[in-house]
Amino acid sequence: MWAPIRRHLDSRRAMADHYVNEAARFVERARARLPNFPAVRILEIGCGQTCAWALVMSTLVDVVIAIDSEPGGPRRSLRHWRRSLAIHGGLATAKRMLRHATSDRGFYRRLALSAQERFGTRLSGRADVREMDASALALADHSIDTIYSEAVFEHIADVAGAAREMARVLRPGGFAELVIHLYPSLSGGHHPDWQAPDTAPSRRVPPWDHLLDRRFPVADFCNGWRESDYLAAFTPLFVVAANDALFEGEGRLDEDILRRLPGYSRQDLLKRAIRLILTPRPAGV
Ligand SMILES: C[S@@+](CC[C@H](N)C(=O)[O-])C[C@H]1O[C@@H](n2cnc3c(N)ncnc32)[C@H](O)[C@@H]1O
Repeated sequence: MWAPIRRHLDSRRAMADHYVNEAARFVERARARLPNFPAVRILEIGCGQTCAWALVMSTLVDVVIAIDSEPGGPRRSLRHWRRSLAIHGGLATAKRMLRHATSDRGFYRRLALSAQERFGTRLSGRADVREMDASALALADHSIDTIYSEAVFEHIADVAGAAREMARVLRPGGFAELVIHLYPSLSGGHHPDWQAPDTAPSRRVPPWDHLLDRRFPVADFCNGWRESDYLAAFTPLFVVAANDALFEGEGRLDEDILRRLPGYSRQDLLKRAIRLILTPRPAGV
């Protein structure tokens, strides 16, 4: 009985460390690209329930605005739970309440500890968290120095709209860093059994079921986009200054799966995620 609880708490501690590591990587890039760092305005798109990355970043730079289409943040009000009920229904909201009551406090404690060790600074929690849609940003033109987003674009229905909004709010000389989980990858269908294909492969759900028989659907909305779809949406507005890939699932891909998925290359199926650095395309280029 205790093993799943211990696993859950371990994974949340690992997530807290992950956000601090990601913040550290981002600081390096922002310092190199933005001469006015740390006097910068950052927008995080899709900060999630915990807003963890934004909380860490807001201790390191002047302004962090964190948006999500759902309400989030360390403090949950009655309004928050009402919205959750309206969006996700009773069961999912009850699960979120349970997680908030049982493991969020430990999560934020670990986040603070990890940030203190890494940056030598206390978490200030100054992030300006707002409920907002990525494809309709209530922000002024060219008001943002840099944008960060992780594990969000694959859930956005109107990616072209979000790309237009990013181009509108970013100032010239700014940049966006997007980490996108690709749908054709083994974990891209977002089935919990395939979260970690190389270390904990599913014994129940066949590999690439989300592209093949779809016998194990998930409730999470995913737009189903491939890398080429994202690049086609971004390149009219942005120059792709970097595109780093993360791969997974090599040992699971056999000739039979490749034969049954003729529309996908080996690379499509093995590329888990991309990290794009986008800079606004100068007008007329
Ligand atoms: C998988 S979570 C990732 C959260 C966070 N970035 C992280 O790494 O923990 C995806 C988040 O994207 C948000 N999201 C989806 N579509 C969105 C949109 N159109 N505008 C803003 N946020 C959106 C969801 O509400 C959810 O919180």
